[in-house]
Amino acid sequence: MNRRNFFELGVFGVLLSFVFFWRKLTFLNTTLLYSRSQKLLYNKNKIVAFFDDFIIVNKDGEPKVFNAHCTHLGCSINKMENGVLVCPCHGSHFNLEGEPIKGPAYKSLEQVDTELSADEKYIQITT
Ligand code: FES
Repeated sequence: MNRRNFFELGVFGVLLSFVFFWRKLTFLNTTLLYSRSQKLLYNKNKIVAFFDDFIIVNKDGEPKVFNAHCTHLGCSINKMENGVLVCPCHGSHFNLEGEPIKGPAYKSLEQVDTELSADEKYIQITT
């Protein structure tokens, strides 16, 4: 190995480390964002409602709330096509249980603990 190859290998290693730590920091920031308490407006007539950080799915009259950030690289999922949640970045599909049905994401959306208000107008995020 000559000096040039050694230098190129070093630069590649530094770039790889940067990408690794960037993803760790990004994940940490988004995790901290979710740890706040939040009230979401709930409409029991809508099957799916999208918010900045959350998705309410009301499939069988039993609302579930998912973290809206895709488990692939964290893009915000904000649309439903043909009954599935679609990530706008790389096209992962999730069913209404939050399970991946088309990659590149392979992990389920995180389900969030919630509490429905007595008048059923709000959902309190309890994380
Ligand atoms: S971030 Fe959702 S598929 Fe890549």
